[in-house]
Amino acid sequence: MLRALLCLHFVVQVLSETSPPPPKDVYVENQLLQWTGATQDTDVNYTVKSCRFHFKTLMNVPECVHTPICSCNISLITKGAEHGCVTLAVQAERHGLNSTLVEACSRQAGSCTPEVRVTARPGSLTVHLKENDSMNLEYGGHVKRRVYFGKEGEPLQKYEDTLTSVSVPELEEGQHYCASVQYTYFNKPVGLASCPQCEVIPESRTSTQKMEVTITVVVVFIMVVLVPLLAFLLIFKSRNIKECLRSPWQPDEFFQTLLQPTSLTELGTVIPSRCTSVEHVDTISSIAPEERQGA
Ligand SMILES: *[C@@H]1O[C@H](CO)[C@@H](O)[C@H](O)[C@H]1NC(C)=O
Ligand SMILES: *[C@@H]1O[C@H](CO)[C@@H](O)[C@H](O)[C@H]1NC(C)=O
Repeated sequence: MLRALLCLHFVVQVLSETSPPPPKDVYVENQLLQWTGATQDTDVNYTVKSCRFHFKTLMNVPECVHTPICSCNISLITKGAEHGCVTLAVQAERHGLNSTLVEACSRQAGSCTPEVRVTARPGSLTVHLKENDSMNLEYGGHVKRRVYFGKEGEPLQKYEDTLTSVSVPELEEGQHYCASVQYTYFNKPVGLASCPQCEVIPESRTSTQKMEVTITVVVVFIMVVLVPLLAFLLIFKSRNIKECLRSPWQPDEFFQTLLQPTSLTELGTVIPSRCTSVEHVDTISSIAPEERQGA
């Protein structure tokens, strides 16, 4: 019984042992290969592999085998390679189990990494490449540049082998797109690809123009129609409006009251103050009917 339990424990342990997650963000800068471990597990080590220009197989980089640190000095490897062309990849290991290999990119242009600049315009992204660089001059037409392209966060796909700058059309506005470029020699990738450069596709002119037109129409409507109308109402009609709101009696009755001598004398005392305040007019009109009723 005990033996069976121990056996079961062993089986469970073997089954739960899985390969570690691959390293992330693997790049080269100033002859130093660096990466980020995807786990805090202290049992995990890393091994760097490289492939020189014409060699087909990846070989361990002796200085960086089973290393617990997250960097590797690659100056000796690139120095020994033709035109400095090496491909580099890193894998994580734990208890003899390996993660997948993650290929490194280069954050700088170099003898074997193309110079790239990415710009975005409404609907398209342009990958600018230098026309004549040292690789092209040395190897002529056998060397091309392979453009990889895709949405940010997704794996980049091969887009085109080219000698000149490339524009990718019909892209979604407001989305982030990335491009990376690598040399090819007889259609085989060589050296480190440039690290992905991402840009957001800006809104097109027509949609911003539509917005501007709408705003202009609204402003013009307010200026031409609403402002004069309001001014007219305020200046000429406020008296009428207030009268309408306040006085339930007829205008001709009002004038009859005005013509009565008592009211006129009363009015005369009030008239001088009309110039200073419009409100006094209302005072008169509201006094007048009370007087009439009192009379
Ligand atoms: C890498 O190694 C080379 C020679 O072995 C040395 O000159 C250089 O300073 C090192 N670079 C770094 C970043 O350690
Ligand atoms: C690139 O090289 C070609 C051939 O060597 C030459 O004709 C061309 O003028 C060069 N272009 C530039 C921009 O230097």
